[in-house]
Amino acid sequence: MKFFIDTANLQHIKTAQDLGILDGVTTNPSLMAKEGITGAAAVKAHYKAICDIVEDKVSAEVLSTTYDEMLAEAKELAALDPKIVVKVPMIADGLKLIKTLTGMGIRTNCTLIFSPGQALLAAKAGATYVSPFLGRLDDICQDGLNLIQEIREIFDNYDFHTEILAASIRSPLHITYCAKIGADVVTSPLDSILRLLKHPLTDNGLAQFIKDSEGLK
Ligand code: G3P
Repeated sequence: MKFFIDTANLQHIKTAQDLGILDGVTTNPSLMAKEGITGAAAVKAHYKAICDIVEDKVSAEVLSTTYDEMLAEAKELAALDPKIVVKVPMIADGLKLIKTLTGMGIRTNCTLIFSPGQALLAAKAGATYVSPFLGRLDDICQDGLNLIQEIREIFDNYDFHTEILAASIRSPLHITYCAKIGADVVTSPLDSILRLLKHPLTDNGLAQFIKDSEGLK
């Protein structure tokens, strides 16, 4: 399973990259705004800064919602760096755009997926990734993990190459459950990645080893 980090915070991206487990980054307009980035030039500079930290796969989201405007934006984003994956919303014009970008050899991430049918359409259009938002479904008392499972089953039935990128992660357990189900990628905030590291028995065991090693030096 690939690990992406879901943030536009450069320090968090560097921390995850330094851990040696990072395969990519996802951002969205909300995450960019959270970092105080405003204006098209600043947004582009920020994407370049992210691309300079990681090896590949930086999802950058289009801001418009009509085919022609999104296509123009997507071309600009893709031209920024070969590491860019264009993130496209799950709307009719978005589907058309995914088809076009796939034909141009530009990788896409279809975002705001909340049903298996939406994932199926995105895969048919040739999306590189689909992003089901499991935490936001859990937030409204629907089973987000079940959505990941349903998409896995559908994609396996037809050997779709589109990867399932589980998004809207709320906890380290979400990550391990996604791994059990067979999500191809999980994108998570740094906090949940770091929590995966922790176990009290590891801490206790290490403290004991350090104590017992004193006479061995
Ligand atoms: O990047 C998309 C997704 O991960 C958003 O997560 O926490 O805003 O539901 P969240």
